[in-house]
Amino acid sequence: MSKIQKIKGFADLFPPESDKFVFMEQTARDIFSRYGCQEVRLPLVEKTELFARSIGEETDVVQKEMYTFPDRKNRSLTLRPEATAGVVRAFIENKIHSLHPIAKLFTCGPMFRYERPQKGRMRQFHQINVEVLGTDAPQADAELMFMVWSYLKGLGLDKLSIEINSLGCRECRPVFHERLTSFLEGLDQSRLCEDCQRRASTNPLRVLDCKVPTCKELVKDAPKISDSLCPGCRDHFDTVLSILDQAGLAYEHNERLVRGLDYYQRTTFEVVSHDIGAQASVAGGGRYDGLIRQLGGPDLPGLGFACGMERLALLLDKIGSPQLDFFLAVLDQQALNKAMIIAQNLRDKGFAGEVSFEAKSVKSLLRQANKLGVKTCLLLGPEELEKDQIIVKDMATGAQKAVSQNDLEQALGLQC
Ligand code: HAM
Repeated sequence: MSKIQKIKGFADLFPPESDKFVFMEQTARDIFSRYGCQEVRLPLVEKTELFARSIGEETDVVQKEMYTFPDRKNRSLTLRPEATAGVVRAFIENKIHSLHPIAKLFTCGPMFRYERPQKGRMRQFHQINVEVLGTDAPQADAELMFMVWSYLKGLGLDKLSIEINSLGCRECRPVFHERLTSFLEGLDQSRLCEDCQRRASTNPLRVLDCKVPTCKELVKDAPKISDSLCPGCRDHFDTVLSILDQAGLAYEHNERLVRGLDYYQRTTFEVVSHDIGAQASVAGGGRYDGLIRQLGGPDLPGLGFACGMERLALLLDKIGSPQLDFFLAVLDQQALNKAMIIAQNLRDKGFAGEVSFEAKSVKSLLRQANKLGVKTCLLLGPEELEKDQIIVKDMATGAQKAVSQNDLEQALGLQC
């Protein structure tokens, strides 16, 4: 029979790689709980309309990257390409605002985008995602930056840079839009890349952060968004930057940072690594005031960020797998069932270990214990079975002694 293989751009994660993912999730729970963030679990599949209405019809994600399919009743469904839209949908549907005036929600899990796979870019990838709903205070923007930075530091990563920008609001963005559009109209647009030729009329802001060198060169003298900010947006952004300055959190104000999703307003930011190749952005986020209302909820502001776990994994050193305390090696078929009870009692006391499900020779069982990397091998043969004893062997020194099965917990405690 032919083998069935996984889909292109999807990955199987085994230790030691999967250990990194466990570490990233545990660190996220630990750090984010210090800010009052609560974990939520949301569906991986949503109605397609949710993403079209939030991320934006004209974005690359919605235009060409979504896994969209009809269900058995011909309803259009989509595997979530990101988490924010789903969190906002769930926030509205479950009326979370009536319970918490400011909700801080954290979620992690797989996202799906039909992109060209390469290093740091997968079709199924994983995000650590935080959303803060219900506040427009610039202090919340600064806290979000503290959160992402503490998280990355908690992972042991500090050779990263933060880029930040303000995209303005419903009031001042149209002014910038108009200025930018007339600038783009004045260019020889045939020199822009194919995507930017389309974006120039559908989503002009995206032309600003195109990575193609000729596009970069052409928009070098484009109007600056900071020159179009209204006083409210200017004050908001200045306050965010001033808190970051006071905290000593280094950042670069990048006027070209516009992000690829349409829901952003005011503060946007990315955390970039120069050590992982072309897919350098390890985290991105910002404010999306207006999105909750746009999805049929109350007119409440919101902000958040997501870290890309595959990209963070590229920066993490190997994480040690959890160690077993013992391997219970059974030397005689008659001792197998008793061994299961002994091991279970030890696990109930908090020890971690495995039993050889077969009786084998001492030599092959010790080889197995070595492979598992345990400190202690417990040996149970016919003689020990009869005397209610067990042999405790220190794998590092080779020293061993027979102890009563009743004293095993203590003997193992001394070893561990
Ligand atoms: P995003 O910039 O599209 O933002 O994605 C956030 C992070 O996910 C990126 O910085 C990157 O590390 C990772 N990422 C994105 N696409 C891929 C991929 N194909 N393969 C591997 N990693 C990838 C968002 O998704 C927003 N929802 C973030 C946010 C939350 N904004 C407000 N709240």
